[in-house]
Amino acid sequence: MFPCLKLSKLQELLEGISGFEKPKLLLEQYITPPHLGSHMLHIVQAHYGDITGKIIADLGCGCGGLSVGVALLNAGLVVGFEIDGEALDIFRVNVSEFELVNIDAIQCDVLNISDRFFKKFDTVLMNPPFGTKCNIGLDMKFLEVAFQLSTRSVYSLHKTSTRKHVLKHAASLGAKAEVLAELRYDLPSTYKFHKKTSVDINVDFYRFLIS
Ligand SMILES: C[S@@+](CC[C@H](N)C(=O)[O-])C[C@H]1O[C@@H](n2cnc3c(N)ncnc32)[C@H](O)[C@@H]1O
Repeated sequence: MFPCLKLSKLQELLEGISGFEKPKLLLEQYITPPHLGSHMLHIVQAHYGDITGKIIADLGCGCGGLSVGVALLNAGLVVGFEIDGEALDIFRVNVSEFELVNIDAIQCDVLNISDRFFKKFDTVLMNPPFGTKCNIGLDMKFLEVAFQLSTRSVYSLHKTSTRKHVLKHAASLGAKAEVLAELRYDLPSTYKFHKKTSVDINVDFYRFLIS
């Protein structure tokens, strides 16, 4: 085990991070709920030591729900990549409220990321857009980029229903994949078409080792 903040303390901190003000449906903007985010980050640091002192990328960082947590766990540096400027405005407010100095964000389309970032990160973590009807397979494209950026490990969430495909795709790209946990993601009723207060989907939390 590696040194890490207590899980309950981490969750409490993540609960203080501001989320999307006007979430954009096409960009699949929903936060990682703090109870899930804290479990994810706690596993990554306490079990694998892949956060503290490491250089980390967060793809589709949104308002910083994961990036801020990573910075609080004393990453050497965390860089968030996000296409939406409005989300990044909130990201910057979160960074200043937590008085963090080991964190930065870059506005760009993850699918057109500059190759100057290739192999510059120890760890890449993300809660990618899963891909809507008009964007099928977007999470797999994020995964391919993550493999290009990381020298060591990638952590990501994908729908459990796509597990076979994810494992096959990762193997075809030379990565060793392991499902660390099966989680129930309670998507909040962010969007008007959601009639219930939350919609549960099953997601897998993965660790990929890059060879
Ligand atoms: C499911 S949300 C996760 C947000 C944040 N990481 C969190 O955990 O709270 C996915 C994020 O990916 C961003 N995104 C979607 N398509 C993108 C793209 N092509 N390039 C960069 N970011 C993108 C969205 O704007 C959104 O912030």
